[in-house]
Amino acid sequence: MLKRFLPLALLAVIAYPTHLLGGGTGVNNDSKTTLTVDLKSGEKIYKSVCKNCHGPTGKGMASFPKLVDNTAEYLADRLKQYRSGEKIGPNTALMAPQATSLTDQDIADIAAYLASL
Ligand code: HEC
Repeated sequence: MLKRFLPLALLAVIAYPTHLLGGGTGVNNDSKTTLTVDLKSGEKIYKSVCKNCHGPTGKGMASFPKLVDNTAEYLADRLKQYRSGEKIGPNTALMAPQATSLTDQDIADIAAYLASL
């Protein structure tokens, strides 16, 4: 008797909408945690702001450090440090204000752009 109903019971479990099984944790599975890099956006920001000090191709000049020949990771780490107000070198006061309004996405884009030069 019981055996006859078992397959039906299994079917019911499989057909049950999976998003209801989570118990409403409020987790949005669509949210992205990894950033998709946009080189064009990075180039745009670099050319509108950063090139004034670091030069049109990121090669630097005088007390403005060269940015090319670094990895994207290094550049992004530095930019986040400046953004958080950390003192890095003797001219941090010149650089820090440039980083304050950058989003994580901006930083990823600029770093990838510079690393691609
Ligand atoms: C007003 C001039 C100026 C502008 C504009 C500027 N920077 Fe800088 N940047 C500096 C100076 C000066 C330093 C070195 C600061 C120090 O001594 O810590 C620096 C350092 C850096 C460093 C660290 C380099 C290293 O070798 O560690 C990075 C990365 C950087 N800038 C990226 C940028 C980006 C990206 C922008 C545009 C959003 C930008 N900078 C705009 C002046 C500027």
